[in-house]
Amino acid sequence: MIATRLTADAGAELPLIGGAMYPCSNPELVPAVSRAGGIGIVQPISLTFVYRHAFREGIRLIRTLTDRPIGMNALIEASSRSYRRRMEEWVDVALEEGIRFFVTSLGKPRWVVDRVAAVGGIVYHNVTDLRWGLKALDSGVHGFIAVNRNAGGHAGTLLPEALLVELADLGRPVVCAGGIGAPEDFVAALRMGYAGVQMGTRLIATPECLCSEAYKQAIVKANADDIVLSERITGVPLAVLDTPYVRRVGLKAGPVARWMLRGHRRKHWMRTLYALRSLFRLRRSSIVPTATADYWQAGRSVAGIHEIKPVAQVLEEFGKAAIAAFPPGPSRPGTGENHPPLPATPAKKTEGENSEQGRR
Ligand SMILES: Cc1cc2nc3c(=O)[nH]c(=O)nc-3n(C[C@H](O)[C@H](O)[C@H](O)COP(=O)(O)O)c2cc1C
Repeated sequence: MIATRLTADAGAELPLIGGAMYPCSNPELVPAVSRAGGIGIVQPISLTFVYRHAFREGIRLIRTLTDRPIGMNALIEASSRSYRRRMEEWVDVALEEGIRFFVTSLGKPRWVVDRVAAVGGIVYHNVTDLRWGLKALDSGVHGFIAVNRNAGGHAGTLLPEALLVELADLGRPVVCAGGIGAPEDFVAALRMGYAGVQMGTRLIATPECLCSEAYKQAIVKANADDIVLSERITGVPLAVLDTPYVRRVGLKAGPVARWMLRGHRRKHWMRTLYALRSLFRLRRSSIVPTATADYWQAGRSVAGIHEIKPVAQVLEEFGKAAIAAFPPGPSRPGTGENHPPLPATPAKKTEGENSEQGRR
C-alpha cells in the first residue's frame, strides 16, 4: 500500500482516481477501479443519459459490483438553473447512498462542499492553475486535482511540474491529472510530490470500458503527437485523437459560434447549445461502432498505452512499480510528510480542513 492524503481521504489502497469520463464511465468500469484498489468515480450524465439507469438505481447496481468506496463527479454549471437543480438532486442521492468522495469541476464548488462536509465527506476540485485553485480554496475544498496540459477531456495549459509548484503551498493535497498512461508515469507523479493521480484515457483501453473497439484500438495505436485540441465539440479546447474526420472539419469553432461566444448574453445560449449537442455527439462517436464522426477524447497519456488490458492488471502494475520505487522508509509516500519529496514548500495544514472529521 502506498498511503498518501488521497488514500486517506478516498478510502483507497492506491493513490489513484479513475477519473470521471463522459461518455466512457460505464457502471462496470467504475467499480472495477475501486475493486483494484483505486477509487472509481461515477459520471452522473454517463450513468443516466448514456447507460440509461435512473441515478439511484445505477449507484445501487455499481454497489453490487464492489463494496469498496466509489466517488461522484459534479460538474458545476452556473448558467442553467435546471441543470443546477438536477445536480443538487444527484449529489443528495449520492450522499444518501453512502458516497463520501466527490470530484467537482468548473465554477465554485461551495454548495457541494457545504452538503458533503456536513456528513463528513470530502471534495476534490479539478483546477488548471493557481487562479482556479484559489477560488476552489475559498469554497473550502479538501484537495485539488491539477489538470495539466497532457490531460484528456478539457486539458489545462501547464506542465505537471509547474502546476504543482503553483498549488503546493495552498495546504491541500494535490493530485496529478494528465499524462498517466504507464506505471512509470504514476511513479514519476508521486516522485514529483503529487499525493496521487487521476487518470482517464488509460482506463478506456480496458475490457471493462464499453466504448467501441475502434476507439480503444485508436488509443492503443496513438502517440502523444496524435492528440489535438478541438473547439468544435464544446466551444472550448477538448483533447481528442487526430482522426481523418477531425482533420476534415478543422479544430476551430465556426464563425457563427465564435460570434455568439463573444457576446456576453449570446455566450450563455451558445454554451448551452454546445453542451447539449456535445452530449449526443460524444455518446454516438464513442459508443456506436459504425459512427463516422469520430470525436474520440484522449490525452497525451496514449504514449504509454500499448495494449487493451483489464483494469485489475493495469492497477496491479502501477502498484507494483510504486512499491518498488518507494521502498518502506522515510521516502515512501505517507510515511513522513503527506507528500513524498516535494519540489516546493511542504503543504501546510489549515485549521479545520482535512481533519479527522473529514475521514471515514
Ligand atoms: C473521454 C474522457 C471524458 C472525460 N469526461 C470528464 C467528465 O465528464 N468530467 C470530468 O471532471 N473530467 C472528465 N475527463 C477528465 C478525466 O476525469 C481525467 O482528469 C483525465 O482523463 C486525465 O487525463 P488522462 O486522460 O491523460 O489520464 C474526461 C477525460 C476523458 C479522456
